Amino acid sequence: MQAAKGLSVATLQNLPMFKQVPSAYLEQLVRVAAYRKVPRGTLVVRSGDATDSLYVLISGSMKVLNSDEEGREVILAILGPGEFFGEMGLIDGSPRSANVLAIEPCELLILARNDFKRCLADNFEVSLYLMRSLVQRLREADQKIESLALMDVFGRVAKLLLEFSTVQEDGQRVVARKLTKQDIAKMIGASREMVSRVMKDLEANGYIQTEGSRIILHAP
Ligand code: CMP
Repeated sequence: MQAAKGLSVATLQNLPMFKQVPSAYLEQLVRVAAYRKVPRGTLVVRSGDATDSLYVLISGSMKVLNSDEEGREVILAILGPGEFFGEMGLIDGSPRSANVLAIEPCELLILARNDFKRCLADNFEVSLYLMRSLVQRLREADQKIESLALMDVFGRVAKLLLEFSTVQEDGQRVVARKLTKQDIAKMIGASREMVSRVMKDLEANGYIQTEGSRIILHAP
């Protein structure tokens, strides 16, 4: 069997999930995996659908979100290169728990249920990586519950900006990825208007500075 166009052992070696897997095994995996390139706006996984595959993001970014009957949305996570999704349904056999939408053009590696399960059984390191990632997600969910219960919108906005920021070479903390006020609102359970008001206030008090789509954070 030929490797899917766009996939190579090197592509898999660059993904944290497969970092510890020997190249001979990756050669087999590359032959059974599929590769998909999707444009921005593609709904790759739909909440409630039956589950059949695991996805690993090679490049681009995706939003994990859910909505109610009135169309109100909550963003559960934003995924970047190297992260995976679709494992929940594969592990417990339930329908998809959320929608996963491409917010940029994305490249995906897709593993069918049986190939994923075989890969876990054959490679303890991959199982461990998966467990570690699920623990990390649980920690993040715990923190989110805590901030929803204990923090006001100021605190929640500040915490989210810190989480999404990285330290640049010049030592500045910057949110470099484009985050709209609407996205922030959907991640912290507040209205867009309230987020706008809070950010205006943070900027007026010198805690943040917006430069195009970048947000520079200043220590209090
Ligand atoms: P699954 O339920 O099969 O399909 C939807 C996917 O969204 C789910 O698997 C997870 O991979 C992903 N997902 C659900 N909740 C979260 C979360 N809180 N953080 C990151 N990814 C999530």
